[in-house]
Amino acid sequence: MIIANWKSNGGLMMIQDWTSDFINSCSPKDFYVGIAPPVIYISDFSLLEWDLDTLEERSNNKIWDIKIGAQDVDHSSGSRTGAVAIKMFEDFGIDFAIIGHSERREHFNEDNDLIKQKIIALNGSNLKTKILCIGETKEENDKGITKDVLKNQLEVVDAMDLENFIIAYEPVWAIGSGLTPDPKDINEIHKYIKDVVQSTSANNLVPKVMYGGSVTDKNAESFFTEQFVDGALVGGASLNGKTFANIVNIYSSTK
Ligand code: PGA
Repeated sequence: MIIANWKSNGGLMMIQDWTSDFINSCSPKDFYVGIAPPVIYISDFSLLEWDLDTLEERSNNKIWDIKIGAQDVDHSSGSRTGAVAIKMFEDFGIDFAIIGHSERREHFNEDNDLIKQKIIALNGSNLKTKILCIGETKEENDKGITKDVLKNQLEVVDAMDLENFIIAYEPVWAIGSGLTPDPKDINEIHKYIKDVVQSTSANNLVPKVMYGGSVTDKNAESFFTEQFVDGALVGGASLNGKTFANIVNIYSSTK
């Protein structure tokens, strides 16, 4: 699973250029690829005429299915100025939602209580895939308390319909910094996350865990070759259609 998170970047022109760069560079794939553009561009994006003939031809008649997602959702609706309700995303056939991103936690004061409300609202929705982001700060990493921090952030999983949830491990210090943990350390943390979630799951479910934080087409392979890395959430490097296609291609040939 590879997801592009455009954050608050991009524009109409960029969507056109990005799409043709992506289509011209991406090889066939049979796994989940998604794009979360800024919410105001979702309709432009989902109504875009993807060059399906070319894509089908190149993928041996396998229909390409690129999912569109929400970078965040509101847990309610009505008198909530500026918020976008889950049912509005459903109207546009949006397939996935990201919640709990560290930028939401930091700039919008989102805490476990609010994230839990979003989880509960998403459980019954038509947004099929839900991605929960967790990660420690540099300070927490230096103090050696990464696992405690993650365990605390994972307390919200008891509210989840676990079958449709995916965890994204995104160390805050790795986001947009060009710094990344050692792939072996990422693998160990992903195993830890899987174990913690499995132990809270009534059905013994082991979640998929993606990695996010300065993933590029230069370092992606080093992450994807690790056993417990089930994909990537890509910010900066997803803003270029060719680079994002390269990352998708690397995942295709590694996993
Ligand atoms: P980055 O962002 O790839 O630019 O580090 C990742 C993210 O925040 O999801």
